Amino acid sequence: LRARVALHPDFRVGPIDRRLFGSFVEHLGRAVYTGIYEPGHPTADEHGFRRDVAELTHELGVTMLRYPGGNFVSNYVWEDGVGPVEDRKPFLDLAWRTVEPNTVGTDEFLRWAEREGIEPMMAVNLGTRGVAAAAALVEYCNGEAGTRWADLRIANGRAEPYGVRLWCLGNEMDGPWQIGHKDAHEYGKLAAEAGKAMKLVDPSISLVVCGSSSMQMDTFGEWEQTVLSYTYDLVDHISMHAYYEELAGDRASFLGSGTAMDRFIDRVVASADAVGAARRSDKRITISFDEWNVWYLQSRFPGETNLPVQRDAPRIIEDVYSALDAVVVGDLLVTLLNHADRVPVAALAQLVNVIAPIMTEPDGEAWRQPTFHPFATTARLARGEVLDVRVEVPTTPTRAHGDVPLVTAAATHDPATGAVALFLTNRSAEPVDVDVDHLGLSIDLTEGWRMVADHEAAVEGPAHARKVLDACWSAVDVASTTRSSGAGAARTTVTLDPE
Ligand code: AHR
Repeated sequence: LRARVALHPDFRVGPIDRRLFGSFVEHLGRAVYTGIYEPGHPTADEHGFRRDVAELTHELGVTMLRYPGGNFVSNYVWEDGVGPVEDRKPFLDLAWRTVEPNTVGTDEFLRWAEREGIEPMMAVNLGTRGVAAAAALVEYCNGEAGTRWADLRIANGRAEPYGVRLWCLGNEMDGPWQIGHKDAHEYGKLAAEAGKAMKLVDPSISLVVCGSSSMQMDTFGEWEQTVLSYTYDLVDHISMHAYYEELAGDRASFLGSGTAMDRFIDRVVASADAVGAARRSDKRITISFDEWNVWYLQSRFPGETNLPVQRDAPRIIEDVYSALDAVVVGDLLVTLLNHADRVPVAALAQLVNVIAPIMTEPDGEAWRQPTFHPFATTARLARGEVLDVRVEVPTTPTRAHGDVPLVTAAATHDPATGAVALFLTNRSAEPVDVDVDHLGLSIDLTEGWRMVADHEAAVEGPAHARKVLDACWSAVDVASTTRSSGAGAARTTVTLDPE
């Protein structure tokens, strides 16, 4: 098999917003308790946060973290999670039917994120609460001394405003499982009023309005257009969420997940732009892809009332990933990079223990799942601008997505350093020679990094490998110099071999 990838430094998709390499910490299962936070753990810092997890988070290259949910946020009373810990009361989180001890709340999380140099993205509860609680939380986080909620923060020991810039107007409000689920008109009106009040507290914040929970939702498309009809002038981003899995052994469709994500992004962009066009607006709504990953959904779904209430950080949706899953994660990153012009913000859901690249044992080790590697490598190598690569490659039929390309590619170029990186996925079981035509760039391959789907060595942790047989994802770091104009084409061939 042969493919051709053409790139040129003058043809670009756009600059990479570093927030593309975000992740997500929800009060769910062991994401917080025994995940990021475990006082008494041998690596815990003086605040009770695990240093081993923080170090892996840095190695993963995470730039931004969404908090505190997820489904959890839709019944969260943030005021119960601030102030002296001994005065805080546990509450029953209805999303996951788990007792939340309220030991970690807004201040603990924001201080940890600040110490670690990671940008926080906060979500407000638009399920069981509304305008006043949302505006109060912005004031608590960002207000200057002299008003009620800012003064409460100061009384709780934090003088300086946290300056949280990114705010989600609720979570998955289109989902019937969401506590306080609404139809698009109800939600659109509430989001507009909450967002208006939040921006009156702090006009510098950016707002994310909820899009659809997935492309499979019955209301997809209409939801985006209705919600934006109320919020277009107010918000900056619309959210997208997507989880992929291998269903009934249909590996070809699973490996084509990046194509499904690509079409999903195109459709949301089209829906948002249709609203903008009808308003004759020059404003462009961009996307916050604030939940994406591989997730074997069967393991648990919110809204299950037949399970007993759980306490003490139960193990919920702790998916065990294979190297095949890692190939798909790498390929999803290729898709996100190729939409850098419209997707500035994204979050791998989630960071630790819950469908996560980082796993922990209470009082024990922290380790990397296979999906850790493509994320960490992409976050490290993708610098500067995404190039508008052209890929010529045969397609293959899939049951779920129709024809999908057998090879996908993204390339980045940092004009400041000249660094070029290539990210390539071979979705077939055969080796593919990829001719990379790099007109305008002279390149020498300096580092090759491969995630091969049957490469068990890439799997860490206690006996988690699932052997699979095909496909690979590669990142190629390239030292480059810009060729003078007229210097002609240059070709470098990269072989993507799943063996
Ligand atoms: O990430 C796990 C859950 O998936 C989140 O709580 C929710 O927003 C989504 O359905």
